[in-house]
Amino acid sequence: MAEDLEIIQGTKQQNYEAIIPQILALIDGEPDLVANLANIGAALKEQFGWLWVGFYLVKKDELVLGPFQGPVACTRIKKGRGVCGSSWQQAQTLVVPDVTKFAGHIACSSLSISEIVVPIIRNKEVLGVLDVDSEIEGLFDETDKKYLEQIVAAIVL
Ligand code: SME
Repeated sequence: MAEDLEIIQGTKQQNYEAIIPQILALIDGEPDLVANLANIGAALKEQFGWLWVGFYLVKKDELVLGPFQGPVACTRIKKGRGVCGSSWQQAQTLVVPDVTKFAGHIACSSLSISEIVVPIIRNKEVLGVLDVDSEIEGLFDETDKKYLEQIVAAIVL
């Protein structure tokens, strides 16, 4: 495994196209979930510099905080609560351009303005979510959705 990532500063699409093969190489052959989620979060944070990127995993009736990069975050989220709990409930990716306009948004950091949450779905069941927050309004779009869904699909749970 290479120790250093190659970080580029291209278009959003170019950045994803460059980082995804590196992420796949990082997790290839490693069966430990925490190790893989930690490295995925670190690689994404290094490439994109987002405010917060990390995972919540479904444990019983809650999402529980997993590996992440960024400021400390709330540890438990109920189904249907906030953007993460809504993504879990709806089993779909949610792109929120302005979290202050999302009813029930859970503000872990007052700096967070836009957010994307991608569910990790296996056999039609949501097992966790990838959550990304930014200080920039409207940062996330269909390009992020497409590539983050690819990354999430590669996670072995
Ligand atoms: N904002 C999220 C909570 C998690 S933090 O952003 C890390 C939500 O509304 O679900």
